[in-house]
Amino acid sequence: MTSVHTGFTKVSLDAFEGVAEEAGVAKPDPIMVADGVTRRFGGLTAVRVDHFEIQREAITALIGPNGAGKTTFFNVITGFDKANAGRWSFDEQDITGLSGYKVAQRGMVRTFQLTKALSRLKVIENMKLGATGQSGERILSALVRPRWRDQEQAIEEKADQLLERFKLSHMRDEFAGALSGGQRKLLEMARALMSDPKLIMLDEPMAGVNPALAQTIISHVKTLAEDGLTVLFVEHDMDVVRTISDWVVVMAEGEIVAEGRHGSIVANPRVIDAYLGAHHATPLDRSEQDRQLAEAESELDRQEAEAEVGPEPDQEELSRTEDQ
Ligand SMILES: Nc1ncnc2c1ncn2[C@@H]1O[C@H](COP(=O)(O)OP(=O)(O)O)[C@@H](O)[C@H]1O
Ligand SMILES: [Mg+2]
Repeated sequence: MTSVHTGFTKVSLDAFEGVAEEAGVAKPDPIMVADGVTRRFGGLTAVRVDHFEIQREAITALIGPNGAGKTTFFNVITGFDKANAGRWSFDEQDITGLSGYKVAQRGMVRTFQLTKALSRLKVIENMKLGATGQSGERILSALVRPRWRDQEQAIEEKADQLLERFKLSHMRDEFAGALSGGQRKLLEMARALMSDPKLIMLDEPMAGVNPALAQTIISHVKTLAEDGLTVLFVEHDMDVVRTISDWVVVMAEGEIVAEGRHGSIVANPRVIDAYLGAHHATPLDRSEQDRQLAEAESELDRQEAEAEVGPEPDQEELSRTEDQ
């Protein structure tokens, strides 16, 4: 949000003022524009985005049920997957089909739902790789390629500053494999910032991290936006979405089905159908009710029995934070 003097009164300008709350709507100052993006896997059309714009210097949330195509859409426009059709541009330059490495060089980076920190490299080495873009062979050749000393030094200084900011300095010389799941999420955000992006796309940055760390990630996202970055992030928790996003985009079955502010999105029948509780909309028939009751009762029995003997250590619980 910016303020201007009109000569008479000081007016607050909301970037989304006057923008219609509808899917595919044009934005006043888009940093990324996508048209007709389609990605098919065999008979399944995972993505078919007609038109989509990301407003510059805003925080946009991308929501939608599992399988809606959010990650696939990220993959395609950031050059980690190939589209079957479509064009997209970044900062008014066509970047259709560019590799992830080149897209990152232009200023558009993403993080992965399943973190991609290289376990057998040290944290600081992972950071340095972020300066060069993010794809496999490039990363390895960048590691062995000799560099000018001061360039190397500048990169290392920047990496250390970012590690400090993300409270990972103490892990600097550890292997990334030794980090907790949450620390890997932070490392991945920090690494994405090494290339000085203008747009950062975060795929479920808070999934599987504990609530305290989720708060930390939320405040990092806010700070990035205050520093002038554009943020697009995928998130399921609608409280988080309400807290930090300026604009919400809803995907379902590969398409963008709604856009708007949080308040109108949660009241939109199309969104409620697609996402926020379609399964509550149809009354359960009698046999389904009986089945669910029986299931709930046997779960209660199980819990009671467990309370008597004490719980088994839950392997899944133990490994949950390991790697998302
Ligand atoms: N590599 C792939 N091969 C086949 N199907 C895929 C592949 N990647 C994703 N899909 C399918 O595409 C759809 C969209 O998946 P995804 O983009 O991961 O959704 P989201 O991130 O919204 O949960 C799902 O039906 C998924 O099974
Ligand atoms: Mg996904």
